Amino acid sequence: MATDQNKFQAIISHCKEYGFIFQSSEIYDGLSAVYDYGQYGAQLKKNIRDYWWKSMTQMHENIVGIDAAIFMHPTTWKASGHVDNFSDPMIDNKDSNKRYRVDHLIEGFAETLEADAAAALIAQMEELLKENDFAGLKKLIEDNKIKCAVSGTVNWTDVRQFNLMFSTQLGSVSEEASEIYLRPETAQGIFVNFLNVQKTGRMKIPFGIAQVGKAFRNEIVARQFVFRMREFEQMEMQFFIRPGTQKEWYAYWKEERMKWHKSLGLNPANLQYHDHVKLAHYADAAVDIEYNFPIGFKEVEGIHSRTDFDLSQHQQYSGKKLQYFDPEINQNYIPYVVETSIGLDRCCLMILSEAYEEQDLSTAEKQDSRVVLKFPAKLAPIKLAVLPLTKKDGLPEIARELMAECKQHFYCYYEEKDSIGKRYRRQDAIGTPFCVTIDHQTKEDGTVTIRHRDSMAQERVPMAQVKEIVMKKIME
Ligand code: GAP
Repeated sequence: MATDQNKFQAIISHCKEYGFIFQSSEIYDGLSAVYDYGQYGAQLKKNIRDYWWKSMTQMHENIVGIDAAIFMHPTTWKASGHVDNFSDPMIDNKDSNKRYRVDHLIEGFAETLEADAAAALIAQMEELLKENDFAGLKKLIEDNKIKCAVSGTVNWTDVRQFNLMFSTQLGSVSEEASEIYLRPETAQGIFVNFLNVQKTGRMKIPFGIAQVGKAFRNEIVARQFVFRMREFEQMEMQFFIRPGTQKEWYAYWKEERMKWHKSLGLNPANLQYHDHVKLAHYADAAVDIEYNFPIGFKEVEGIHSRTDFDLSQHQQYSGKKLQYFDPEINQNYIPYVVETSIGLDRCCLMILSEAYEEQDLSTAEKQDSRVVLKFPAKLAPIKLAVLPLTKKDGLPEIARELMAECKQHFYCYYEEKDSIGKRYRRQDAIGTPFCVTIDHQTKEDGTVTIRHRDSMAQERVPMAQVKEIVMKKIME
């Protein structure tokens, strides 16, 4: 399987060096699989979140957004099936005591094989997972002599299930405290509010409820940077429909979501569908949208046909009716749900992976190179850098005028230190689509040099046009 570990490591280093993503609590040697977003990472993440939110809510008259709490009544997770079913098959290496998720262990090994052998191994694994055949999975690991990365041995325990939810205590006095969970998905906050939103918003089926928020999973295999974290952010939408129409709505959202990914300027060849073989406990159909990360094609988003599983369960456990009266067919029913669920952190990593480019710009005369992040302008953390050529002769004052005009509309960055070349390179490295240089000619004729990040082309334009040029690109 073609992967590019070097590129992946380079992206991780770049994210740290340029203020996108840091290891959490780094001064205490970090916390495994937990990350903090720095000044540019937080802005990139916000831009992606806002773009998703707008495309779901503002652009769909029948989808509204909510913001539910992370803490939920503990029965929620009993009803949803997470207490009993939200677990992964794990295996421990007896020599290193290191625990692995079985599918990750096998997938990691498959990455070292030729394409055909890898595909055959993955197919065998998927068949065994589907059957919950734990003895078969252990045998597959042993037959392939898959080693523990730490001990280097094949001394494995049996395969067992481990629940991925984090629990904590609610209440200050220990006798009163009750165990609650940090939500492992945002979706349940939507299900339990289904009737609140439907009634207060007078929503008619089909309609959707969208939400963005943190989710928590005690992932055992904590590697792959922000791809797999213990605290992460999801952007989910539950689309409530009439029973029997789930096939057509599933097909609709499958296509819509792929269109959304393409609208981020991703190369279509880097996107693919992957149908689920082993369905989650709530789904009757499920597909992933996968992106070709430097570590291979991996899931970014899931589209799941969840039937009426969740609402029926909540109706049963709460004893409250969660039905909808459909005036068109004069019937009460529990709606079916098609869900779209995308990880915001994975989406950030996808955008970073697509944007990251190391370029050799050497000529016969001199060696040169740059690292550029070719973000779509709408997602770039900074849209415009304003750079006076010198710190004197009134150039900073003119640059400040341009800043004052533009910063009300989009994020700008002002810098007057170092050579223009160095300043351009720093902006390339954080993905700023435009740099504007104010020079002595600006004082004479009011024009500035605007430099385009990807082509590095420079052109002279009236300073009065800069705002419009940038705005036009952001709106693309
Ligand atoms: N409500 C359905 C649900 O949660 P999921 O496939 O388990 O489905 C949806 O998760 C998305 O959340 C995934 O496609 C992925 O992008 C993201 N995600 C899941 N676990 C994650 C983790 N540990 N770290 C980062 N993102 C994660």
